[in-house]
Amino acid sequence: MKRNAVYPGTFDPITNGHHDLVRRAAGIFDQVIVAIAANANKTPMFTLEQRVDMARRVLADLGNVSVHGYSGLTVEFARQHQGSVVVRGLRAVSDFEFEFQLANMSRHLDRNFETVFLTPQEQFTFISSTLVREIAVLGGDVHEFVHPIVEAELRKRRRD
Ligand SMILES: Nc1ncnc2c1ncn2[C@@H]1O[C@H](COP(=O)(O)OP(=O)(O)OP(=O)(O)O)[C@@H](O)[C@H]1O
Ligand SMILES: [Mg+2]
Repeated sequence: MKRNAVYPGTFDPITNGHHDLVRRAAGIFDQVIVAIAANANKTPMFTLEQRVDMARRVLADLGNVSVHGYSGLTVEFARQHQGSVVVRGLRAVSDFEFEFQLANMSRHLDRNFETVFLTPQEQFTFISSTLVREIAVLGGDVHEFVHPIVEAELRKRRRD
């Protein structure tokens, strides 16, 4: 049986930490579907289309990975795309509480829902989209944290 994993998130924008996780998941599962949530309540910097487009370009090197935008419940998206496993990332203990709650709530909504947690390589453990956006807006250097494609998009949004 083929195993498809869904990796949901906001990806506003996709970082090297996300890329590291997708690469690891792609080595474990047959297909990885990166699911980018519209997430209107988070008021993202980039539109859903821009986030999907950047993620597609950044992840183009991984053959068994596809990128989709979605709104609505992640459990619903996973069901529609035959995703039997959801991948999430743990950077530090601080991620654990929210991720644990989310995994349990998701399984409450759909009892077949399984969450698998992956950890990134140490040098990516302190990267978040929020920090990258904040640094970039203030003119800081983010080239170590994001793909050059994303760096160029962030530069356009710099507060000069
Ligand atoms: N550097 C990273 N290493 C490992 N996992 C990560 C990393 N960044 C994000 N993740 C995980 O990827 C999933 C999706 O995260 P999300 O899109 O919210 O990114 P984020 O960097 O946390 O963004 P934000 O700061 O906007 O919340 C979550 O499970 C999150 O824990
Ligand atoms: Mg987050």
